[in-house]
Amino acid sequence: MSSLQYDFNKQIHRIGTSSIKYDRRKEVFNTEDVLPMWVADMDFETPDFIRFAIIERAMHPIYGYTFRDDSYYEAMIGWLHRRHGWQVQKDWILYTPGVVPALNIAVLAHTDPGDKIIIQPPVYFPFFTAVENHDRSLLINQLLLEDGRYRMNYNELEQQAKEARMLILCNPHNPVGRSWEKEELQQLADICLANDVLILSDEIHNDLVLPPNQHQVLAALSDEVAGITLTAHAASKTFNLAGLASSAMIIPNTSLRQQFEKQLKAMHIEMGNLFGFQATQAAFTHGDEWVDQLLDYVQKNIEFTIKFLKEKLPKLRVIQPEATYMVWLDFNAYGLTDDELAETLIHQAGLGLNRGSMFGPGGSGFMRINLACPMKIVQKALDQLVRAFEAI
Ligand SMILES: Cc1ncc(COP(=O)(O)O)c(C=O)c1O
Repeated sequence: MSSLQYDFNKQIHRIGTSSIKYDRRKEVFNTEDVLPMWVADMDFETPDFIRFAIIERAMHPIYGYTFRDDSYYEAMIGWLHRRHGWQVQKDWILYTPGVVPALNIAVLAHTDPGDKIIIQPPVYFPFFTAVENHDRSLLINQLLLEDGRYRMNYNELEQQAKEARMLILCNPHNPVGRSWEKEELQQLADICLANDVLILSDEIHNDLVLPPNQHQVLAALSDEVAGITLTAHAASKTFNLAGLASSAMIIPNTSLRQQFEKQLKAMHIEMGNLFGFQATQAAFTHGDEWVDQLLDYVQKNIEFTIKFLKEKLPKLRVIQPEATYMVWLDFNAYGLTDDELAETLIHQAGLGLNRGSMFGPGGSGFMRINLACPMKIVQKALDQLVRAFEAI
């Protein structure tokens, strides 16, 4: 283990950098006077080995047409093997300009208008639009909240799978923070295999599973499961590179891959962004120690939050995350409408969070808070939250 200590306490001024999280507060919350703890990017600096890789390439004065050379693929393959025990072949990897675009491309490539696609809300809201924007229809397999932990509703899933063409899985799950266990994923995969349902597994949060939980790559369960699965993967969430719009779709099944690639090529978006490749390659080559330290820091923010809120706001239920730097907060015991809850958070607590209702059925009365920021900011946010809610 290296002795290098990365500094996650450093506060970085982001206002005026065209940051959605900071510079779009007025549009979203109707005021700039909120601590922004919404959009899923981090307030930690992208590590120096990534910044230097970008700068080094930027120093060359020509940014012409480029391609991803072998070292990009080797870095990604090495990372997936080292960190997730998944052996991927180079030709399974297709570049995509972001995971959300990739989900949309997959819907277009692998389903037809009118087809039914299963999603499991409360879930990342672009899953809804990836289906509905292309005139496919949603089958809502809502997660069940039992004793403070979310589970899948397999009975309902078994029925829905009979008429579905595809399922979009969030693995690990945003916003409820579940790191799905092997047995849970196997049960889901068995249902999909039995009913000929393709699985689109969004694994963008795969590196952000909090120990002792461990990420299970769905496609790594078996060759059979790999044969029906498309896996979305990226360095962007892990290393704070969302602005570079780079990701990959990994598809072991040749005919599924060809179908996806045909759609990608038809749109002429397979070339990608030069700086995205540089950053991804550097991240997956040098990033192990940084991610370990990041998870350690985020874990402490989460532990602090849970303990503090349990003590000060016992009415607020905090769902223990097993993955991601987001925490799912259950305000239902306060008896407020979603609008009243949002108003109180914005105007009384001075906090800009994501409304639970935007994640679909099961989200009402919840809020999602982003804890990927220096602990001092977390403490400030929680003090504001307590002051606003202790009297309610
Ligand atoms: C589950 C999930 N998928 C995809 C994304 C965004 O992916 P991209 O920025 O690569 O489109 C996010 C961002 O929060 C996410 O939580």
